[in-house]
Amino acid sequence: MKRKVVSVLLCAAMVSAMMVGCGGGSAAPAEDASAEASEDASEEGGTITVGFSQVGAESDWRTANSESMKSTFSEENGYTLIFDDAQQKQENQITAIRNFVQQEVDYIVLAPVTETGWETVLQEAKDADIPVIIVDRMIDVSDDSLYTAWVGSNFKLEGQKACAWLQAYADAKEMDEINIVDIQGTIGASAQIGRTEAFDEAAQANGWNVVGQQTGEFTQAKGQEVMESMLKSNDNINVVYCENDNEAFGAIDAIEAAGKTVGPDGDILVMSFDTTNAGITDTLSGKIICNTECNPLHGPRVAEIIEKLEAGEEVEKQQYVDEGIFAYGSDVPEVEVDGEKFEVTEVTQEVIDGRAY
Ligand code: AHR
Repeated sequence: MKRKVVSVLLCAAMVSAMMVGCGGGSAAPAEDASAEASEDASEEGGTITVGFSQVGAESDWRTANSESMKSTFSEENGYTLIFDDAQQKQENQITAIRNFVQQEVDYIVLAPVTETGWETVLQEAKDADIPVIIVDRMIDVSDDSLYTAWVGSNFKLEGQKACAWLQAYADAKEMDEINIVDIQGTIGASAQIGRTEAFDEAAQANGWNVVGQQTGEFTQAKGQEVMESMLKSNDNINVVYCENDNEAFGAIDAIEAAGKTVGPDGDILVMSFDTTNAGITDTLSGKIICNTECNPLHGPRVAEIIEKLEAGEEVEKQQYVDEGIFAYGSDVPEVEVDGEKFEVTEVTQEVIDGRAY
């Protein structure tokens, strides 16, 4: 396997400047392949080659995530990035990983579209001694030596925070009933599994009337289509739980096209995840009443893992990113999940101005 030197000091400076908070995780020793990478890297010249298999370009969040990876793994930072857009198809990701193995890249980074079905191809990467770093969504494998490290979001917690906010808001506003629709993400993706699981549990615990539940595939077009059809068959919807911002944009278009209104004084409350700049701009106006953060800036986090592996250091096996919750107004100043309290940030123009993506 070809191994190449990285300008470790340059990258270390860059990463410490760019790094944003990661939550705790469990420590794991660097894999054998990573130790070998470290040895070889000090012997040869050049850049570190990273093959990145990206889910697709389905959302604004995803675009921000791709940009974070591209700007981090640049030539000037000591990397050669091979970027592959899988167009939301797992078979394309499997082909991309096989190509990376053939190309003898130094590291494979995978943002998996769904959780299952990775054993065979990751075994091939392991057999080729190429460390695999999973980013954003998680994979479900029985042998966790098939990947070196994972960094991403706690999607279930995101959903729990959002649902706790809704119940607290409903109590504060003395809402008689909650007739709610869940526009899910891509079925089988960790982001969908966690957010839907939290939704199902909260709906049952709080007695919400679930009017409909269907995937919007994390896209604006599908979010709009699903909302249109839900509105045609149900006249009583007063809350829609969209599993990302783009679905929320589509749902808002569908609601307004049907002659209904969104917002605190409107017919339907729209909830969302991601807190992209456009998403929280809609939260400032109340069109999206509550928006739970999912942070896409993973480039520096993955670079920090690679730097540690290059230096022969231990890396956390799993790292959760710290994320917030944002809302229109201040009716619900904090939410509680499993005894832990989370402050709710009221969206202001200043908050939007500080949101780069
Ligand atoms: O996995 C993260 C999710 O994927 C984001 O919420 C969504 O916007 C993206 O497509």
